[in-house]
Parts: sequence; structure tokens; C-alpha cells
Amino acid sequence: MTTQSSPTDFGLPSAESLAISAARYFPEFAERFSSAQVITPEQAPENFIAPQLFPSGATAAHAPALENLHGGHIAIGGRSIESIRADFPILNEQIESNRLVWLDNAATTQRQQSVIDRIAYFYAHENSNIHRAAHTLAARATDAYEAARGKVADFIGAPSAENIVFTRGTTEAINLAAQSFVKPLLKEGDEIILTTLEHHANIVPWQMIAQETGAVLRIAPIDESGQIILSEYQKLFTPRTKFVSAAHVSNALGTIAPINELIGIAHAHRVGILIDAAQSLSHIPLNVSVLDPDVLVFSGHKIFAPTGIGALYARKEILDAGVPYQGGGNMIIDVTFERTIYQSAPAKYEAGTGNIADAVGLGAALDYVSQLGVSNIYAYEHALLEYATRELQRIDGLRLIGTADHKTSILSFVLRGFENERVGKYLNGRGIAVRSGHHCAQPVLRRFGLEGTVRPSIAFYNTFDEIDLLVASLQELVKQRN
Ligand code: ALA
Repeated sequence: MTTQSSPTDFGLPSAESLAISAARYFPEFAERFSSAQVITPEQAPENFIAPQLFPSGATAAHAPALENLHGGHIAIGGRSIESIRADFPILNEQIESNRLVWLDNAATTQRQQSVIDRIAYFYAHENSNIHRAAHTLAARATDAYEAARGKVADFIGAPSAENIVFTRGTTEAINLAAQSFVKPLLKEGDEIILTTLEHHANIVPWQMIAQETGAVLRIAPIDESGQIILSEYQKLFTPRTKFVSAAHVSNALGTIAPINELIGIAHAHRVGILIDAAQSLSHIPLNVSVLDPDVLVFSGHKIFAPTGIGALYARKEILDAGVPYQGGGNMIIDVTFERTIYQSAPAKYEAGTGNIADAVGLGAALDYVSQLGVSNIYAYEHALLEYATRELQRIDGLRLIGTADHKTSILSFVLRGFENERVGKYLNGRGIAVRSGHHCAQPVLRRFGLEGTVRPSIAFYNTFDEIDLLVASLQELVKQRN
């Protein structure tokens, strides 16, 4: 027998407080809405589709003037791109006698020296298991690990470090949410809403609990540009809807989903929602206290931190009510053969010895990104994306997959007359690393009649010159077309 509270609901606000104002979700636009314009749950869907709120306008609002960036003085947060690049030793690697051009950032980002140094320091001076021993190194390791949890909370605007559970990454975090928070709510015939944009990591865990419980998945469609059709999303809600899970940014298309609206509509129906921020956190400023998702998850390795570490944010009520799906050491207060009393969150969800050193490395990576400023990063990357989009579209026979008005960091394409794998290998011969294949997102590619694409994906250390090299290399390849 185990002891824990029952996850009967997510502590969602009352119907009255569900009268959602746009200002609540997006204070930057507060002046556009008088206090008289409080939206009732019934009205909320229409009002949330107001174009001026679409999508996460905080980013656009922060963008400085970017004219003449190409060839001009380019800086992020007061630092030149050259000096930022010098922080990433791997960017000096030679590949096939060319300097590496890393355009596979959606798969994983590179690590800056400060992260490498921080992990080395941990193993040289702090290494111990945490919490359990009363010696100096245990105290150092525990302090470093818990400081990293605090950095995650600060970075995403969580009210407390106690809202943050360390996981192996986004995949484990979504499995945790599905098993611990949502499965206990499900009965046969209940519904979970996803969108067509989802990565397999945001499909398979929900399928697994649907199969176990008899629940069904309902999928919000996208339009030809790769954007979610909000009016169709809204129609999917029924009294049986129990949860929504949606990506902030599509890893296959780069579409920025309108998460203000996705969250607002879900809450208007008194349904909880998870936001998969794996592809957005390093590119778009976000703050969970403003957006108000019920759960938000991300991976460290997509934000310049090590692999094997990530985090789940959840509202306290959800963490308190959830049922841990992994048991073991570290997550208990007391164990007998008859019953176990769990720790409170977040320890309740961190069974066993975690990835302590890499959590500390994640903290160092977030420090680095915070110093540059995600708003500054967004502005630079947006200019790079617009430039790359324009230049790629000039290539004969190149079809961009994912042309939504609101995109970030990802440029998926197919090239007439060439297999995706051949394009990837050709670019590798020029030192350019891109991913080709299905990107763990088969349903969204099949929506466009494809089994795969070539996918360059950018980060703040990429340059306009690198985009020029990518385009020139593709132009050379096109000349080989029969
Ligand atoms: N999710 C990673 C990608 O999109 C692996 O490539």
C-alpha cells in the first residue's frame, strides 16, 4: 500500500477566475485591453485568436532594428558573434578539411567552455551523492545540485525551485507527466488533445496511457503553412477532454505554436495543458508565471547544457496530487514492507541517484544564456532565419517545408532530384552538419506527403557567412542534377 494524495483535479481555478483576461496571459499587451474586457470561458476561444496576440509577441516586441545586419556589426547582448563563437571550442573542428558549420542545433546544441569547466570542477572538487551523507562533499554536491534547480526556476520564471523536477530530458519529463499526472485521471472514453506538430516524444507516451486506460487521442490539424488551425483545436474540446499536450516550436518545421491561445482555450475548458519547450527555450523568451501552463518540459542539451539532463516544471497542486511512477531511494520519507511514505515534490519524482554533475552543468549553461539574453538571441536568430529563408528559396527545385508566419530556428526542405540523405552527405563534405530524415516527427511530415526532409537548424553562434556557405554548397549540388 502506498500513501499519497489523490489526483482528482489539477487545482484549476474556479469558473469565475477562469474569466481569463488577455492581460493575464500577456501583460505586455495589457494597455490594449481595458479591465472591462475580461473574457468569460465561453467567449475566450474567439478572443484569444485576436491577431495582435499571435503568437508569443514578447519576442517581436523585443526585436531591435535589424536592418543591415548582414556584413554589419553583429552582436548579442553586447558581445560580438566572434567572441561568442570562441566560447565553443568544438566550432574550431575541421570536418573533411573544412571548418565545422554546425547547423544541427535542433538535434543538439554545442557546449561552451564554461559548461565544460563547471562539470570538470564538479568532479574535481564536489563529487558526491546528494542528500544522504553528512560529510563535506555531500554538502557541496547537494548545494551545487539545488543551486542548479534554482537557476532553472529563475530562468523560466517559476515561483519556486520546488516546482522543478530534474529528468533525463524532455522525453522522460513527458512520460512522467503522462504516467504521474494524467493517467490517474483517465477512464475509458476520456480524451487527450495533441497537435499534428508533435515530436514522437509527445505522442508515444500519451498513446501508451491511452492504450492502458481506454482513453483516446484527438489531434488538432495544421494548415498548409504548418500552423495549428485554432478554430479546429477549439472544436476538439468535449466534456471528456482531460488534458492537452502541445509543442511550443515544431522540431520538424520550426512553426511557433500560438501557445497563449492553446493555454487560454484549454483553461477556458478547465483542462490542464503541457507545453513541450524543447525547441523553444533557447530561442524564445518565456515565463511560466505569465504563460501559466500547467506543465512545461525541456531538455538541457538543446540549450547548450549536457545530454541526459532536463527538467519538468509543474504547478504545485499538480506535483502534490501526482502519483510517482518510479520508486526507489531518494524519493521516500519512510519505507516498511507494508507501505511507503513519499517525500514531497520535487524529490517524490526523483527516484534513485540523478544526473548530478550534468544538472550542475545545466545551471552553468542557463547562466551563459541569461547573460546573452534570450530576447537578444531571438532578435539575432530571427534575422538569420529570415535571411536564410530568402536565400534558400532562390535555389532551383528547393521546397521549404514549414512556411508559417511565425517560425524560429528551423529550415526544413526537400530538393527536387536528390534524396535527403544524399544532400546531407554532400553538405557534410563541405563541413556543414545538418540532419536529414524524419526528425522523430513522422505524422507532421506525412501531413506534407513526405517521409523526411533535410533540416538545417540555427543557434546564436551561427553566422550569415555560414548561411552563404550552405546556400552556395546547395547551388553546387543542384548543378549535378540530371
Ligand atoms: N528531437 C531531436 C531532433 O529534432 C533529436 O532532432
